[in-house]
Amino acid sequence: MELSESRIMLGDNLDLLPTLADETFQMIYIDPPFNTGRVQSRKTIATESNKQGDRTGFGGRRYSSRLLSESSYKDDFDDYLGFLAPRLEHAHRLLDPSGTLYFHIDYREAHYCKLLLDEIFGRECFLNEIIWAYDYGARAKKRWPAKHDTILVYVKDQANFYYDSEEVDREPYMAPGLVTPEKAARGKLPTDVWWHTIVHTNGSEKTGYPTQKPEGVLRRMVLASSRPGDWCLDFFAGSGTLAAVAEKLGRNYVLIDESEEAITIAEARLSEIRRLAAEDGAGAQASQSASASA
Ligand SMILES: C[S@@+](CC[C@H](N)C(=O)[O-])C[C@H]1O[C@@H](n2cnc3c(N)ncnc32)[C@H](O)[C@@H]1O
Repeated sequence: MELSESRIMLGDNLDLLPTLADETFQMIYIDPPFNTGRVQSRKTIATESNKQGDRTGFGGRRYSSRLLSESSYKDDFDDYLGFLAPRLEHAHRLLDPSGTLYFHIDYREAHYCKLLLDEIFGRECFLNEIIWAYDYGARAKKRWPAKHDTILVYVKDQANFYYDSEEVDREPYMAPGLVTPEKAARGKLPTDVWWHTIVHTNGSEKTGYPTQKPEGVLRRMVLASSRPGDWCLDFFAGSGTLAAVAEKLGRNYVLIDESEEAITIAEARLSEIRRLAAEDGAGAQASQSASASA
């Protein structure tokens, strides 16, 4: 399907993704359900001797590894990784040759998903592990309180991918007295650890959707990894945070979710954003004509 305008689609992403044309999207963000309720057991990765392998073992011998092998780990997690694998293959197919995938996942699942993504994208196409750190809610007393999510970043082609750090919002220096006043005023480039509050319970951004992610976190990804007019995709869309950011930044988007509630919320959110933008546009035009006639 050739796309002419942004759209929101209701249905299972595995049914809908095949309808989208290869290499359409400059950036894809996904935040799948996390699979946190499972008992975790032993993890085994099958390895075989291979001179071109991705791992080095005893005596410098090279091995290649495969995650989806016969193992107790596989059986326990078959459903989750088996659920993700065909969808991630579509993500790879749908990315522009210079495109980027942002895969948002719970810290308990991140390592298993990384191996799967290494298989689909190639280990050399792994760009970053972003840690989104927040500070909210109860604190465990028997271990370090877990207050972060992981975002795994993969590019389609490690030798040719779009990334513009200059577009990204800068952060204040921790010790501004140690740099020149000009540098302190400009701020520093963010690293791969992003401190950002969760969606505020009374904030204007809140839609009521339980797993809604903050626009500020997605804004950075969209700014760094796409240009105005590019296409962005989220096929686990929830309340439509990716589209909200894309709409505000002049990108095109496709959202997919199988929940009617999610789609209703995302549609209402986007029409409010467009309404506010139209109001702002009308306000700016009115003040321009007022100052022109003064
Ligand atoms: C963690 S939420 C996404 C939240 C979103 N990032 C936001 O900011 O609101 C995951 C979403 O995936 C959707 N989902 C789960 N399985 C799906 C499938 N097979 N096809 C399409 N959507 C699916 C759920 O309905 C849910 O809305």
